[in-house]
Amino acid sequence: MAAVWTRLLLLGLVVAVAHGLTCRKCPIAVLGRCLGPSAEVQCNSTTSSCFSATTAFNATSAIRLQSQGCVINAACDRTLASTLAGVGLTTSFRCCRTDLCNGGTSVQLSLAAACAAVLASLWAR
Ligand SMILES: *[C@@H]1O[C@H](CO)[C@@H](O)[C@H](O)[C@H]1NC(C)=O
Ligand SMILES: *[C@@H]1O[C@H](CO)[C@@H](O)[C@H](O)[C@H]1NC(C)=O
Repeated sequence: MAAVWTRLLLLGLVVAVAHGLTCRKCPIAVLGRCLGPSAEVQCNSTTSSCFSATTAFNATSAIRLQSQGCVINAACDRTLASTLAGVGLTTSFRCCRTDLCNGGTSVQLSLAAACAAVLASLWAR
């Protein structure tokens, strides 16, 4: 029985790879929380990497915006400077190439860390 499940799982994996990469997509996120519809997208042969980008304003590093999706390989590990309504922005891209690898694990991790901190402070009393 276990062998059947393993085979199905492998088959699913192969099919997933053949259909290309799936990435998390979020047009804009603040503090790891996606504003607007967060979804999953299929990349194609042109956009063959998942990215998560961080945009910071030149004037202050206090506000950072994130976005996620598919991107061309050439944009990976790049930092782009741009302006929006006269305000300087720098955006740095980080890429990965496995399904949903650009997902919001950092949020879950920081949530877990926050819970651990609360528990620890309760224990310390
Ligand atoms: C691949 O996807 C991007 C955006 O998701 C799109 O702009 C581009 O035209 C697509 N390329 C092909 C070859 O389908
Ligand atoms: C913002 O900072 C980047 C990197 O330091 C720089 O390349 C860019 O020219 C700056 N933009 C503005 C509008 O000052």
